[in-house]
Amino acid sequence: MSEYIVEMRHITKKFPGIIANNDVTIQIKKGEIFALLGENGAGKSTLMSMLFGMYEPDEGEILIRGEKVKIASPNHATRLNIGMVHQHFKLVSNYTVTENIVMGMEPVKKLLGFIPYVDLKKAAREIAQLSAKYGLEVDPQQLIENANVSTQQRVEILKMLYREAEILIFDEPTAVLTPQEIEFLLDIIRGLRDGGKTVILISHKLEEIKQVSDRCAILNRGKLVTVRDVAATSTKEMANLMVGREVSFETDKKPADFHEKILEVEHLSVEDQNHFPLVKDVSFSVRGGEIFAIAGVSGNGQVELADAIAGLIKARSGVIRLNGVDISDYSIRRRTLEGISYIPEDRQNYGLVLDFTLAENLALKQYYQEPFSHKGVLRPGEMDRYGERMLEKYDIRSGQGVKTQVRSMSGGNQQKAIVGREIELQSPLMIFVQPTRGLDIGAIENIHNQILKERDAGKAILLISLELDEIMNLSDTIGVIYNGAIMKIADAKTLTTNEVGEFMMGVKGA
Ligand SMILES: Nc1ncnc2c1ncn2[C@@H]1O[C@H](COP(=O)(O)OP(=O)(O)O)[C@@H](O)[C@H]1O
Ligand SMILES: [Mg+2]
Repeated sequence: MSEYIVEMRHITKKFPGIIANNDVTIQIKKGEIFALLGENGAGKSTLMSMLFGMYEPDEGEILIRGEKVKIASPNHATRLNIGMVHQHFKLVSNYTVTENIVMGMEPVKKLLGFIPYVDLKKAAREIAQLSAKYGLEVDPQQLIENANVSTQQRVEILKMLYREAEILIFDEPTAVLTPQEIEFLLDIIRGLRDGGKTVILISHKLEEIKQVSDRCAILNRGKLVTVRDVAATSTKEMANLMVGREVSFETDKKPADFHEKILEVEHLSVEDQNHFPLVKDVSFSVRGGEIFAIAGVSGNGQVELADAIAGLIKARSGVIRLNGVDISDYSIRRRTLEGISYIPEDRQNYGLVLDFTLAENLALKQYYQEPFSHKGVLRPGEMDRYGERMLEKYDIRSGQGVKTQVRSMSGGNQQKAIVGREIELQSPLMIFVQPTRGLDIGAIENIHNQILKERDAGKAILLISLELDEIMNLSDTIGVIYNGAIMKIADAKTLTTNEVGEFMMGVKGA
């Protein structure tokens, strides 16, 4: 019997135009927590998708418990006791917790000895046992559509365990959780290991990997960089290996120097079409030189709040003032002209026109002004020259320079293009919604520095983020939103990450 429960040898997997995995070899021991670390696009999910039978490798071989296997499908992987919790859960929303767990493998009983029927009682008993053993609390009768993200994740884990998985793959499981939920999940993962399971944990969060895993493999652009003992490797070292260069963690932040109020929001309320309240009587202000961050769990009204300020949606009531002028009834374009830059969450739909070139996108908000237009006639040469300066300044990388169709660019470079374009507007108020979502460490570093630079230049920055680390690193003032209402506004220095997390869950009630 091999020392390793999983061996992937010389695995190569190509997609059109890209080598997602290039000659990767990893060996995983039974009963360890093995982390896969790498930036976005490094090839982590692809590698694990092959272990779970979703893709076949182009080259290389896989051994499970010392035996060479060709894993043809997820069902086959399940028979080999391999389970996977995907980045996006795959549950059926109008089914109960129990139904989701047993789906596809319901325990069948024979009624009167011959009519098959589903023995959900027996299933429920087994689920209750697993749930108790691993601390995976769920309400078996709850509908998935009523369950929060962290419950849904527990259901996914129970689903694997119910199928007798011994090798458990978690693909970025903490990306969607609050700090408290993350701690809880990491405990569960430790418990699974202590119960004899083998865990493969994909993440780009170094702290987590440091906390729970025994060994980690680092991938960079499809290649295995190294495999390390986690206890003997610092997070700094891991980050450098992952990015392939020296990274600085500390954002270099100068003391704040606040000026006059630029944005004032008073008693703002927003409803959806069915008059369901999304933003409830929110008031706050942002000064020049200040980064005001809104912290909150996804879906608590923060995006609607930003959209209402930028004019994308209409508020039901309340007043928005920019430099003392009431702009509540202004159109989007008028607000832009009046001095609002907006980096939206949905960059593909609102931020960019994907079929336009990079040069056109960079001039998107100013094309009707000099020098891009003269007497109503567009001047493409001016746009190109401007674009080239922007590429340089904001480190935007694209295949064919300013002529590149934006659709073909990577998410990180699309985002840098939007950030650059919006900053160049030199607006007194800049609204950033999830500015670094889905970006890798290098691009995050770049965008954080840009945001700080604008703050130091006296701009008022409204930052909306689901990443608490980002909020704690950048903000001067934190407002926590829960269920559409602001629970707390305080100087960022006076709050700990855990306190913010508690307000985010509505625990520390007003
Ligand atoms: N089904 C697919 N078709 C084409 N390209 C893909 C597919 N899946 C992943 N890729 C590409 O392969 C590379 C690795 O992706 P992935 O394994 O998802 O990275 P990670 O999980 O480390 O972020 C990326 O460049 C990605 O765009
Ligand atoms: Mg992935």
